[in-house]
Amino acid sequence: MKLKMLLNLLMAATLAFAVGAVIAYCGRAQSASAASLFPADNGPASIDVSKYPEAQQKNYRLFLKKCSMCHTTARAVNAPYVLPKEWNDCVARMVRMPGAGINASMAKRIASFLAYDSSVRKADLLKKKESSAASASKASR
Ligand code: HEC
Repeated sequence: MKLKMLLNLLMAATLAFAVGAVIAYCGRAQSASAASLFPADNGPASIDVSKYPEAQQKNYRLFLKKCSMCHTTARAVNAPYVLPKEWNDCVARMVRMPGAGINASMAKRIASFLAYDSSVRKADLLKKKESSAASASKASR
């Protein structure tokens, strides 16, 4: 009787360990593939907005809430987008994702925040892209 109980206990412990190992393995595989597909995921997931205008701080909180549902906010925080059009297009694409739950006015506020933030944190890249966009339109004239 005692031996049977001991065996049952041993089996339960083995099972628990196996399930734990499988969960740990799957979790690692999933995050590794997401991180290599989206290197931006590895960067910081938040932004210091303490010096941003009040309205943009509010938009930032909306961004944190809405853009963290399916992936880390790091994916957007470290994205190579800086131009308002790039952000509008990106946000519009996310809005169309099934179950995104982002309406038009939320999308506008989030895109506004991301463009403003780019003008602060990614000013150099923004300047570069603006000037290459300007010379491209001159060339096409
Ligand atoms: C309903 C789920 C969902 C929500 C909500 C969501 N995303 Fe995404 N996002 C995805 C998926 C899935 C991918 C990867 C597949 C793809 O890019 O098509 C992705 C990829 C991205 C990428 C990398 C690809 C690219 O377009 O450069 C960025 C940046 C991004 N999301 C930003 C955002 C922002 C900003 C928000 C908030 C407005 C947001 N996401 C909200 C599902 C979502």
